[in-house]
Amino acid sequence: MGAVRMSLVQIRGLKKHFDAVRAVDGVDLAIDQGEFLVILGPSGCGKTTLMRMIAGLEKPTAGHIAIDGADVTDLPPRKRGVSMVFQSYALYPHMNVFNNIAFPLRARRREKKLDKATIHSKVVSTARLLEIDMLLDRRPRQLSGGQRQRVAIGRAMVTQPAVLLLDEPLSNLDAKLRANARDELKDFQRSSNITAVFVTHDQIEAMGLGDRIVVMSEGKIQQIGTPQSIYDDPANEFVATFLGSPSMNILSADGFRFGFRPEHFLPKTLSDNSENSRIFQYYVKRVEYLGSDRLVYGYVRGRDSDLTLAKVPSNVRVSLNIEEDYEFAVHHSDLKYFDASTGRRIERQNLQEAV
Ligand SMILES: Nc1ncnc2c1ncn2[C@@H]1O[C@H](COP(=O)(O)OP(=O)(O)O)[C@@H](O)[C@H]1O
Ligand SMILES: [Mg+2]
Repeated sequence: MGAVRMSLVQIRGLKKHFDAVRAVDGVDLAIDQGEFLVILGPSGCGKTTLMRMIAGLEKPTAGHIAIDGADVTDLPPRKRGVSMVFQSYALYPHMNVFNNIAFPLRARRREKKLDKATIHSKVVSTARLLEIDMLLDRRPRQLSGGQRQRVAIGRAMVTQPAVLLLDEPLSNLDAKLRANARDELKDFQRSSNITAVFVTHDQIEAMGLGDRIVVMSEGKIQQIGTPQSIYDDPANEFVATFLGSPSMNILSADGFRFGFRPEHFLPKTLSDNSENSRIFQYYVKRVEYLGSDRLVYGYVRGRDSDLTLAKVPSNVRVSLNIEEDYEFAVHHSDLKYFDASTGRRIERQNLQEAV
């Protein structure tokens, strides 16, 4: 395999239409060797269909996929060097961990002629990498959720694929385990230097794991970039509001909309330099105490139809009483403008009349 930053997977004009449903609708994407790419989008936006086409489980309506320079669009799954871990990764319950991981090697035995010793050493080294080598004799029901998930990844990795596709593999773990599993997965990806494509609808997971994030909606890519660039510099209103919790506030103006994140909307008394900020009269309706933050619900005066949230760190000792007005400020660089009809980002200087 070539240099570290060559693109390993190249996708051009990829489409999959199921009759009238445009599940994937013209995707162009280059995935780098060794990167952890996250595909993020709401349920139904075409993530699984895109992955299944990369894996060779679904035939594209149009477009091409190349891996390592070779067009694989018409190749069957096992000739692509790609493995996929599905959302509902069922392990074989009657087999121990060793046999679960060995399964794909044995299934290929005829064409690859793997002997017992080779299978053994491949299974053991994969299990070591995932730190489950002490569990090889156990059955799936004797494992925790996180351990099962690692066995499923082991089963996908043992054939040494060039690309590992992970379709929401953490979604059936509980919240605490998920954070752990995320951390382990990232460590494992770094140490193995495998190219991983990870699908999720969870923006926190995407931000935490991705070297780059591809944001999808309705079968199309909305934006590709590092977690920070997508968060700080969204290409359109969809991306701006899909990332971030609570979501970016969006207010309507004359011919455009503008937005700012709740954490950037703070009492004016706190802003370092109010000359660089836009000041809003803010009516406080309700305050939630969330431990590390106070989440404030209210309205910007003159725009009383749009619920507007502020996220004020708890260590900020400013009193905020309900049913009172305050001056709140947003730094100009934290105000994002969007075209009212297309939702596309507009630069402030290109507006006739900014807020
Ligand atoms: N085999 C299929 N037949 C018909 N429609 C499908 C099929 N697979 C997926 N779809 C539709 O394609 C769209 C994208 O689905 P999917 O790729 O599973 O989205 P995601 O994984 O992002 O939730 C959805 O509207 C879904 O109903
Ligand atoms: Mg899916």
